[in-house]
Amino acid sequence: MSEPWLITGATDGVGLALARHCLANGQEVIMVGRKALAELNEEMFTARNYCQTDLSEEESTEKIIAYLEAQKVTRLRGVIHNAGIGWVGELAEQSAENVEMLTAVNLLAPVRLTQALWGRTQRVIFISSIVADFPSPRYAVYAATKGALDALARSLRAEGGGPHIQTLHLGAVRSGFHAKAGMTLDDSVRDKFPSAEMAARWIAGKMEAGDLQSTMGLKNRMIRGLSWLLQAPISRGLPWRFGEKQAGMSASPGKHAVVTGSSQGIGAAVVEVLKLRGYTVTGVDLSLQGAEVTADLSRADGVSKFIETLAALPPIDLLIHNAGINATGAFAGIEEEKWLPVVRVNLLAPMLLTLGLLQRKRLAKGGTVVCISSLSHYSGYPGASVYAATKSGLAAYASSLRAAFRPESLRVLSVFPGPTRTAHAREHSPDNSKEHRRMDPVELAERILRAVERGRVRLVPGIGNQLSAWLGWMAPGMMSALVRKLLFKKLQK
Ligand SMILES: NC(=O)c1ccc[n+]([C@@H]2O[C@H](COP(=O)([O-])OP(=O)(O)OC[C@H]3O[C@@H](n4cnc5c(N)ncnc54)[C@H](OP(=O)(O)O)[C@@H]3O)[C@@H](O)[C@H]2O)c1
Repeated sequence: MSEPWLITGATDGVGLALARHCLANGQEVIMVGRKALAELNEEMFTARNYCQTDLSEEESTEKIIAYLEAQKVTRLRGVIHNAGIGWVGELAEQSAENVEMLTAVNLLAPVRLTQALWGRTQRVIFISSIVADFPSPRYAVYAATKGALDALARSLRAEGGGPHIQTLHLGAVRSGFHAKAGMTLDDSVRDKFPSAEMAARWIAGKMEAGDLQSTMGLKNRMIRGLSWLLQAPISRGLPWRFGEKQAGMSASPGKHAVVTGSSQGIGAAVVEVLKLRGYTVTGVDLSLQGAEVTADLSRADGVSKFIETLAALPPIDLLIHNAGINATGAFAGIEEEKWLPVVRVNLLAPMLLTLGLLQRKRLAKGGTVVCISSLSHYSGYPGASVYAATKSGLAAYASSLRAAFRPESLRVLSVFPGPTRTAHAREHSPDNSKEHRRMDPVELAERILRAVERGRVRLVPGIGNQLSAWLGWMAPGMMSALVRKLLFKKLQK
């Protein structure tokens, strides 16, 4: 084979239709799927073009690379990250294993494979979904993984110097996807969806054209447009929630707050401000210095141990997902041992912790969940693409979580801090000479608490950050290019 396309999830639905379409048009294709070759009835699958591997397994990328080497494929025309799984239902009914599985297939596998193929592929095409930025109460984790992929693509494009990166958004397609995700659809509804073949033809057209981003169909483009409007960096929520009552928590004696990553930086400042307001605080961190509980949130057993600890404590009025780590540098050069914990701490841990607490009914009625995302959600973050992916994934998860509850039972505040005067910022910034300009963490903590009290849904703290967020929202390409110039280029020196 000279320069084939590589399509993941090519055994069913859109991926299968796309592989058929490419082969029928004389293009060379390597197909990836988890089923054994013997199980596949179609003649198009042969040992020379089909690589069997389960993308939920860490070794799947190594297997694909070994397969390509065995087939003497040194260069790809493009990789199409199509494999994806969903889960639909009440948030609390999803299992922790399923959350892990969705993250592994929809996010970790594309990150790993993109990195392994960097320099060996002309294109990287992410098959995303219109729900990536859309509040999706019944598939919050799925939306978070797709939102994370979109942000990854955006920051990778801004880094430049690698393959051409495309993001293609599909709306509902008639495939086995919904049934596998546990969704029963009426035939009359399902029949209205475009077929997998139509979606495949549309994708093939975009593969030809090389569009950076595209959404299939007018209705879906309108939904994407609405998602964009809903992302506007204003602190009020949806119009029908404008009339929310203020929570009035300025002095909150006896209320229980849980803060992850409480020992330093923003977490420590939040704890300080909470204690001044009379909260009883349970902080968690790697060591007991500045924390009541120790747990390693980069590990599934660390998160479940923390959930068990919290299950024995009073209900939680305020849950602050603050713990976050970063791994900076050009995407291609960041080792997995550095970026994987970023995904686990920044995105997976908040989803697992929220799930565990919902299942054990530990979130008090009328309480608030705060998700500390990042300004990178609006600005992109070339030089920390995986970090940017996790922070946008968390923002997408927060929107869906908010949509799942009425404000009187649970509120959700998303916070998008910009540069803050912490050790984290110092460690990952290429230039600390103007550190004094970064926001004081105590000031940020006070702003967060005020936003909680006022029942805000979104907080971009400080006028400078707000300007950046608006610019990033209105002109994402320009903003990412600016961040590339100000940050990424300096990181490269
Ligand atoms: N269908 C929709 O309405 C819709 C809407 C928006 C976006 N999308 C996105 O479009 C893409 C394709 O969806 P689809 O409708 O074609 O879904 P599908 O019919 O369920 O096909 C998904 C493909 O991914 C494979 N896959 C799943 N888990 C895997 C794993 N662990 N290892 C390897 N392969 C795995 C499946 O293999 P098996 O055959 O073994 O299951 C199948 O080949 C997905 O990324 C999805 O998120 C779909």
